[in-house]
Amino acid sequence: MSQAPVGLFDSGVGGLSVLREVRARLPDESLLYVADSGHVPYGEKSPEFIRERSQKIAEFLLGQGAKALVLACNTATAAAVADLRERYPELPIVGMEPAVKPAAAATRSGVVGVLATTGTLKSAKFAALLDRFASDVRVITQPCPGLVEQIEAGELDAPLTRELLHGWVEPLLAEGCDTLILGCTHYPFIEPVLRELVPESVSLVDTGAAVARHLQVLLDKRGLRAVGPAAATRYWSSGDVQEMERALPKLLSELAEVRSLPV
Ligand code: DGL
Repeated sequence: MSQAPVGLFDSGVGGLSVLREVRARLPDESLLYVADSGHVPYGEKSPEFIRERSQKIAEFLLGQGAKALVLACNTATAAAVADLRERYPELPIVGMEPAVKPAAAATRSGVVGVLATTGTLKSAKFAALLDRFASDVRVITQPCPGLVEQIEAGELDAPLTRELLHGWVEPLLAEGCDTLILGCTHYPFIEPVLRELVPESVSLVDTGAAVARHLQVLLDKRGLRAVGPAAATRYWSSGDVQEMERALPKLLSELAEVRSLPV
């Protein structure tokens, strides 16, 4: 048993979609959340830059007493999870990747679309994922530059957000795609809009719940589960803290103080 908190981080507010799943599954765990919004989007940055940021944030979260880390970001996982696991071999570390395996199992048309950042789609980790699980289906990848910025700005339902999504999704539907992977943790927040743009028969697949399950398994294996009640979640941002304070009620239905990240 350990009452120490679990640390989560993302390039911005996207990882809150993962935090929400972790809370639902592990309500007794106290959580720390870092949004690296001063450096968002990660999707257009180099893997070296993302590795460096991930190391700094991991060190910060460990300094705050984290007993486990969740990379609540597909792009940071592709660039940095191997490096962090090497640095902290004893630490439970959960990364995430687009849900190619469940999507390949679920598709009936045999065509799967992946919405993700350029960084994730260009990574060796993603290529390996396709080799491993998608040999029997056709996978069409669609980078979404600009979408993370819209979500960071709270423009979840804005005309530009809809226009961008429409432009990306229409060609996928025309190709017969019946399963759409949300391969970036920001995207669950625009799921209601996306739902309006695609027929009901198209499944939207996201990884947040699977990440929470995996965290549970790792904590159980090491006897690190907390006994409630959980402490209030603590938030940090490397960007505009007030902007994040305004985003929390919208994204998580929560009011909380956000501190400035000192790294
Ligand atoms: N939320 C992130 C992901 O899951 C990255 C978004 C970005 O900063 O480009 O990939």
